Amino acid sequence: MKSILDGRAALTAEVEKVAEVAGYLWQNGWAERNGGNITVNITDLVDDEIRSLRPISDVKQIGVSLPALKGCYFYCKGTGKRMRDLARRPMENGSIIRILDDCASYVIIADNAVMPTSELPSHLTVHAHLIEKGSPYKATVHTHPIELVAMSHNDKFLAKDVLTNILWSMIPETKAFCPLGLGIIPYQLPGSKELADATLAELDDYDVVLWEKHGVFAQGLDVMDAFDQIDVLSKSAKIYIDACAMGFVPDGMSQEQMKEMSRAFNLPK
Ligand code: 13P
Ligand code: ZN
Repeated sequence: MKSILDGRAALTAEVEKVAEVAGYLWQNGWAERNGGNITVNITDLVDDEIRSLRPISDVKQIGVSLPALKGCYFYCKGTGKRMRDLARRPMENGSIIRILDDCASYVIIADNAVMPTSELPSHLTVHAHLIEKGSPYKATVHTHPIELVAMSHNDKFLAKDVLTNILWSMIPETKAFCPLGLGIIPYQLPGSKELADATLAELDDYDVVLWEKHGVFAQGLDVMDAFDQIDVLSKSAKIYIDACAMGFVPDGMSQEQMKEMSRAFNLPK
C-alpha cells in the first residue's frame, strides 16, 4: 500500500522513532490495551506535495482554539489503538493531521482515516505553547508507568517537589537527565480541557508531569528524549519501591550530594 512516508527519509525516521518508543512503552508494561498516546509536530518535515494533499476525513473539532498551530502537521497515535500494534505498524495505528486556518479544527491527510487520540486537546495545547515560546521541542508522550502511578495514590508524594526530590535522590543520573523534576497534576477527567489546561501550566516548570492516579505526560526534543525522561524517573521510582519491599524506606542521597551533582553537571535546580 502507498504511504505518505514513501520516498521521505526524514519523515520516515521520525515515525520509526515513534514506533520504537511505542515498543518500549509496551515492553515496560506501561501501555495496557490502548493506554498512552504520542504526538509529534512534523511541520518542518512537510513538503509542498504534502501541503496539497486532499483530506481523507471530515473536518473535526479539536475542542480548543490554538492560533499558534495554524497550518501545522502532526503525527498522532490513533484513539483506541494499541502501542504494541503501533510499534509494528505506525501508519495503521496512527495518522497525520493538518490543523486548519480556523485554528480550532483539523483534517486527517494520511495514510488512513484513523481518529487521533482522545488526549489530543492536551497534546495540541502543549504543542501550541511550545511554538509560542520558540521551544525546539517537537514531541509529547503520555503513558501509564506502573510505579509512578502507584506513588500518585498517596497524598504524601503529591505536594510540590516532594516526589521530585525523592526520585532525584535515588540515583545521581535522575537529576542529571531529568533536571527539571516531576510536576504534579491533581486528578482530572482523561481527555478533558481541564486536564489540558493544568498540564500546560505545569509544563512551564517541568518537562514531565504526573497525572494523579492516571499516568505521566512528557515533552521533549523528539519522542526518544521525552521517553528517556520518563524512563529515568520510573527507574528511581522502582528503586524506592524495591527498598520499601525489602522493609526500609531508602535514605536517598543527601541534599549536599544533590547540590554537588547540580554544580558538577551545571543543572538548573
Ligand atoms: P487513546 O487510545 O484515545 O489514545 O487514549 C489512551 C489514554 O491513555 C487516555 O488517557
Ligand atoms: Zn491515559
